[in-house]
Amino acid sequence: MKTTVISFANNKGGSGKSTTCSNVGCALGASGKKVLLIDGDMQLNLSLSYFDEDRVFELASGEKNIFRAMQGRVKLEDCIVPTACENVDIIPSSTLMSGIEFELFPKMQREFLLRKALAPVIKAGRYDYILVDAPPTLGTWVINILAASDKVIIPVEASPWGLFGLANMFEFVEEIRGIAPGLEILGITVTKVSERKNYFKQTMQTLAESGTYVFPTYVRVDVNIEKAQDVSLPVTVFNPKSRSAQEFTQLAKEIDARCR
Ligand SMILES: Nc1ncnc2c1ncn2[C@@H]1O[C@H](COP(=O)(O)OP(=O)(O)O)[C@@H](O)[C@H]1O
Ligand SMILES: [Mg+2]
Repeated sequence: MKTTVISFANNKGGSGKSTTCSNVGCALGASGKKVLLIDGDMQLNLSLSYFDEDRVFELASGEKNIFRAMQGRVKLEDCIVPTACENVDIIPSSTLMSGIEFELFPKMQREFLLRKALAPVIKAGRYDYILVDAPPTLGTWVINILAASDKVIIPVEASPWGLFGLANMFEFVEEIRGIAPGLEILGITVTKVSERKNYFKQTMQTLAESGTYVFPTYVRVDVNIEKAQDVSLPVTVFNPKSRSAQEFTQLAKEIDARCR
């Protein structure tokens, strides 16, 4: 099968990257797509969405994680761990990811190491989607993530500060297109929405004027999300009937449709 690599990136922290990546991944899996998630952040949030803390620390301090793969100590495909969610596998992150920039710096073609490491997995055709959760930085590691991606989704928080830095993000993507011309912005997804608040409307209006595609389904603030994260489950599994679970399922459909 053809594999589409999608990264979730925004240099602004707390914009909903990890939550969107984990839940969209789980929803795509539930719809029958084969999904590989890659946790690219030393905060381990994506890994924690699927495994409890003990297991995440065990994986993060072990030999089979994204850091070890980027070091070249293990093959990326040997770091794949199945999750309890149907059709969803994950490559965990590592606490050592704080040092990833130093690790990449002296290497040849340092911007393309993730792309190279992913090539055998893509060639094997095991996955419909590889979803990569990026950290809130704009360094060489995020360049790697974007240069390995076919598409990038930018989660934006519907808050007064949610749009700060978005112009930088667009410029950054444009620069990376210089070395990875295949990269496309698939769209912006709006997260943590309270429809009653004024800035929600302002956010939607400003985004509409940006000329970038905005997914019609946005995800509203929902306590179920934190409850689900607390027990290391995507909300789509924790409480499939919850509003956010339904929104993520809908968003996953829109993403899938837009990738065809
Ligand atoms: N729709 C939502 N409703 C309530 N809380 C949310 C929602 N989306 C994300 N959050 C919370 O907001 C915080 C930031 O989200 P996260 O996905 O970790 O952002 P990022 O990965 O961009 O830093 C987390 O504590 C998460 O639980
Ligand atoms: Mg995150």
